[in-house]
Amino acid sequence: MSTDAAIAQPLEAPAGLKIPRHLAVIMDGNGRWAQARGKQRTEGHVEGVKALRRMVDLAIRYGVQHLTVFSFSSENWRRPRDEVNFIFGLLHRFVASDLATLIRNNVRVRIIGGREGLDSALIRLIDDVQAKTAANTGMELIVAFNYGGKGELVEATRRIAKAVAAGQIAPEDITEATIESALYTDGVPDPDIIVRTSGEQRVSNFLLWQGAYSELIFVDENWPDFSEGTFLKVLETYTSRNRRFGGIETRSS
Ligand code: IPE
Ligand code: IPE
Ligand code: MG
Repeated sequence: MSTDAAIAQPLEAPAGLKIPRHLAVIMDGNGRWAQARGKQRTEGHVEGVKALRRMVDLAIRYGVQHLTVFSFSSENWRRPRDEVNFIFGLLHRFVASDLATLIRNNVRVRIIGGREGLDSALIRLIDDVQAKTAANTGMELIVAFNYGGKGELVEATRRIAKAVAAGQIAPEDITEATIESALYTDGVPDPDIIVRTSGEQRVSNFLLWQGAYSELIFVDENWPDFSEGTFLKVLETYTSRNRRFGGIETRSS
């Protein structure tokens, strides 16, 4: 295999298909995928990483600029310790196995979420992957890990409250932009689409602020089954939606 075999080749999107600037994904259903096959839940998470790899490749090829994936929520600590440890181990393994490919593909990585509860090795890994990809100019891969939308807003509020207490800004000068720049996603456009797999139809504390006007798309497949066909169906659904942002219907030609 030549060294550039892993480089994702951009392709022409099928005519008329709208490509989101920012696609966010709630990768759900790993456990059910495994259980349906008589396997351990952890095997579902392993397959989930393969689906993530496919998703990153598809997003690059179709010209998505920001891809956010929900990989561990601040509520997922409620799971058995063994499963939590396994998911943490998978993040280590994903970085170890895929960092070189991400760099070759010019991908910038940002890992969003709380740092409390993460061990120092994981924090070093996060800092390292962000630093090693910071200068890349291609797609941004945002991994929501130990992430919760409410927690993100609490952190942002604290940051702003400190700036107010220090006299750096006046309360009446706080705008939506002030809050946006205090979020983990500072500088990232809001997601055009939030897709959730596995048939569940809820947000589960994902991108609460940023998702205010996202198109919600629910697909029945479990995350490990996510394929290029599913991806194209998501793009077709998105293309068929009429986004009004509170205005009135406009149909683009
Ligand atoms: C998504 O799959 C991955 C994580 C939440 C870490 P699940 O593990 O939630 O799978 P189900 O929903 O139990 O099938
Ligand atoms: C949301 O899935 C979090 C991730 C996909 C990482 P969950 O499986 O944790 O969500 P609930 O508990 O079904 O709402
Ligand atoms: Mg789930």
